[in-house]
Amino acid sequence: MGESMKGLKRSVYCGEINETMVGETITVMGWVNKRRDLGKLIFITLRDRTGLVQVTIDGNRADENLFKKAETVRGEFVLAISGSVVNRSPENINKDMKTGKIEIDATELRILSEAEVPPFQVADTGVGIDLRLKYRYLDLRRPDLQEILFTRHRISQTVRNFLDQNGFIEVETPMLTKDSPEGAKAYLVPSRIYPGQVYALPQSPQIFKQILMVSGFDKYYQIARCFRDEDLRANRQPEFTQIDMELSFVNEDDVMDVNERLMQKVFKDTLNVDITLPMLRMPYKEAMERYGSDKPDIRFGMELVNITELVRGSSFAVFESAIEAGGSVRGINAENCGNFTRKQIDALGEVAKEYKARGLAWITITETGELKTSLTKFFDEDALRKIVEAFNGKAGDLILICADKNKVVFDALGALRLDVAKKLNILNDKDFKFLWVTEFPLLEWSEEDARFYAMHHPFTSPMEEDIELLETDPKSVRARAYDMVLNGAEIGGGSIRIFQRELQEKMFNALGFTLEQAQERFGFLLNAFRFGTPPHGGLAFGLDRIVMLITGTDSIRDVIAFPKVKDASCPMTDAPSHPDPSQLRDLGLSVLKEKE
Ligand code: AMO
Repeated sequence: MGESMKGLKRSVYCGEINETMVGETITVMGWVNKRRDLGKLIFITLRDRTGLVQVTIDGNRADENLFKKAETVRGEFVLAISGSVVNRSPENINKDMKTGKIEIDATELRILSEAEVPPFQVADTGVGIDLRLKYRYLDLRRPDLQEILFTRHRISQTVRNFLDQNGFIEVETPMLTKDSPEGAKAYLVPSRIYPGQVYALPQSPQIFKQILMVSGFDKYYQIARCFRDEDLRANRQPEFTQIDMELSFVNEDDVMDVNERLMQKVFKDTLNVDITLPMLRMPYKEAMERYGSDKPDIRFGMELVNITELVRGSSFAVFESAIEAGGSVRGINAENCGNFTRKQIDALGEVAKEYKARGLAWITITETGELKTSLTKFFDEDALRKIVEAFNGKAGDLILICADKNKVVFDALGALRLDVAKKLNILNDKDFKFLWVTEFPLLEWSEEDARFYAMHHPFTSPMEEDIELLETDPKSVRARAYDMVLNGAEIGGGSIRIFQRELQEKMFNALGFTLEQAQERFGFLLNAFRFGTPPHGGLAFGLDRIVMLITGTDSIRDVIAFPKVKDASCPMTDAPSHPDPSQLRDLGLSVLKEKE
């Protein structure tokens, strides 16, 4: 059993001890990072949330019992140590350690709690993610992970203060609710009182925040947990956190303005980085044409070039068939990649194929200005030179060309652009380039279901000048929607909402819902709208993604204390798990199929 803390009180955190405290008697408490024995001298590095400090127990001077006890100490034991702060001798100063100029000469040591040999060393960074997450409590002892969660905390505080100062009030909305309209699959929670019936966990507080506007709260926010049953990715978790807000009597500029200022404040307070406002705004169409992406990374150029007209009428069937089918031929100039080997170029082709491109044509401009290309059979030197010119190609460049349906061309080139930038190592993660992408299409056509879906959600308002097109040319209607993009990541998105009933009906119509169907899914919102609805709009940021960008980590798991792994399970708690048969009985449920 561990010893008691009785009579001892922590006087300082390990990482906060410094030279000004030399001579003072202090008490620290924490975990053993490491113990080293040098004969009659024992060194213990003690760790708490502020950092490490070195403790020495000198067998020549220390009490015999104290020394013996120190010899039994192992990694991850929890200790209380009292002693005096002393200067290290010059040769023992550790410049890599915050407290490296001093150490504690221990006069008392208590083992508050022993620890078994851990399944991995806390400092070991080469441990697999499943093991790390199974023992997440040990993993979370790592200073870098703790630092990320401290930063996350600071960001949340900044957000709360800022929104409070700007007149927003925080309101909590239900977790047990009805399905929300965000397009992913919902997590369902069975009801015991209504056997066979379910609640849905919210995909976002969308409907409730709009209802709060109907109620007159005017400016709402919430740091809200959202649940979406979708495939996990490096920046996607099944439960994640939004900084969610809604405002009444506003237009796009109002929502964008307050959110730009919010991000400016967050980046100033956490990183001391100055963001210049207003942020750049770019219509969706322009983002696609220039970057092949609705979340362009504008830290670098390598913009797409449309050469459809230049190559029209060539003998190359791939180009011709793409153009005839209404697609296009576009490419990028991967500057300074002229030295890529065939193997490297083939690897780029594989990237393009992941995005359904049938192939990738290329032209290399050698250092001496010669052209090498996959297009020799179809274009003469003259025609090739014209293409190179269109891309501003110079000696040492590599031009990559894709011909297909526009969507495929944009997706493939957008991905290639990022892939090449990563390979060239030209992306600086301390360079923060924000922009708004605006004028998104309102509707998205699904070939599979042969119907339109709302690109954002069914309450997003069309642009006023496009309303007429809702009935005649729905796919060209633009939405009053905006995404905030940072370094190629969508960190937030929102819209001005439909608040007039007639327009909402037109929208449901375009989506192929009857009014009855709409009433069944969103009836409570539509009912609320009958009783006096202010014009309103809002936005939600992905807090996890913002923390990722600020802390420079590329896995969303690093910014969440207890995240899920790829198959949406939690190795620590073993969730999800089989319900007890009696629980199933209570809920009126039975299991038809289990995962093998
Ligand atoms: P949207 O669905 O665009 O909008 O979500 C807003 C932001 O939330 C983040 N995000 C995620 N982060 C981690 N894991 C996920 N699975 C995940 N899904 C989304 C993204 C995204 O930009 N109700 C609307 C907002 C509104 O219209 O006001 C909404 O939820 O950063």
